[in-house]
Amino acid sequence: MEENNVATGSSAVADGEVNAVGLDIGTSRIVMAGGPNGHKAVTQLNAFVGVPYSKMTEAILQQNKMVFYRNGKELFVFGNDSERFASFFNAVPRRPMQYGVLNPQEPMGQQIIQSIIESILPRARKNELLSFSVPGKGDGADTNLVYHEAILKNFAQSLGYEAKAVNEGLAVVFAELQNENFTGIGISCGGGMCNVCVAFLSVPMLTFSIPLGGDYIDSSVSSVVDEPITRVRLIKEESLDLSRQPKDKVSSALHIYYEEVINTLVTKLREEFENSRQLPKLDRAMPIVLSGGTAKPKGFLQKFESIVKSGGFPVQISDIRMASDPLTATARGCYIAAMSEVR
Ligand SMILES: Nc1ncnc2c1ncn2[C@@H]1O[C@H](COP(=O)(O)OP(=O)(O)OP(=O)(O)O)[C@@H](O)[C@H]1O
Ligand SMILES: [Mg+2]
Repeated sequence: MEENNVATGSSAVADGEVNAVGLDIGTSRIVMAGGPNGHKAVTQLNAFVGVPYSKMTEAILQQNKMVFYRNGKELFVFGNDSERFASFFNAVPRRPMQYGVLNPQEPMGQQIIQSIIESILPRARKNELLSFSVPGKGDGADTNLVYHEAILKNFAQSLGYEAKAVNEGLAVVFAELQNENFTGIGISCGGGMCNVCVAFLSVPMLTFSIPLGGDYIDSSVSSVVDEPITRVRLIKEESLDLSRQPKDKVSSALHIYYEEVINTLVTKLREEFENSRQLPKLDRAMPIVLSGGTAKPKGFLQKFESIVKSGGFPVQISDIRMASDPLTATARGCYIAAMSEVR
């Protein structure tokens, strides 16, 4: 399992004592912060590959210490191992979620998410609190959000936790804006979507999502340049630099779709501010924090800043910055949310 340092700035978890857990259940990755690992985040890909069951295959998976789930005549390799396993078979891993919520077209989705969650979450101690991330309302996620949240809550409860949902954008505010009294705009650009929360003193005043993220960029680029989606994703993750002129067809298409995602996000944020009547009067400028895997490429921050500046903005922005670790910000924020309830 991949492990990252988690700087929560909190020392409330004594060694070995588990009393709160943060869980980011994302379209691409599931990340746990807190728990028995203290200040380490644990990540698993939210993906799987199915192969027909045979004793031989099962033995090989066991020998290679791959995590898998057996369902009658099929074996499912899930989490981080799914990528390696899929490349053996030249297959594309299946995904339990899309656009930030459970994928209704994937019959195995719920069992697999449950297996992934069980593989990273320990069984809870008495009434231990778990905060998990959920997306904000938007074109991709609306009525199905109720179902998504209820099912995930059930999974966490079945492991003995007292579970509570936290908006993903708010989790980013919790993780990154402690010094600003949790006042500002938290943005997570993920695989399935982008999530935004405008918070005042830790209270979410405005939240929304757009159904555009890394998956949209990958599939759009793949279709216009006629390259396999996996190759496009690898190029994007390993070498994309949004601060330089694109040099070839793939990177030029990546630039175009990145620009579209950021433009759509910033336009929607402007509209939401303009349509919102319940925002308190601000006496000072507020920061924007960017996080999520899709915000990782070099030059993303500059591109985002220039789009915000070019069209003006309805509120004063003090600065726009990247989260300390963009891939764990949501999980760390969920952990902080859970800790604040425990104290
Ligand atoms: N270094 C990188 N450069 C560009 N993109 C990256 C990089 N690392 C990860 N990604 C992309 O980030 C996306 C996953 O981000 P993240 O883990 O934040 O999403 P998620 O939380 O699982 O999804 P969501 O929040 O939308 O439900 C994928 O599309 C992946 O290709
Ligand atoms: Mg996310």
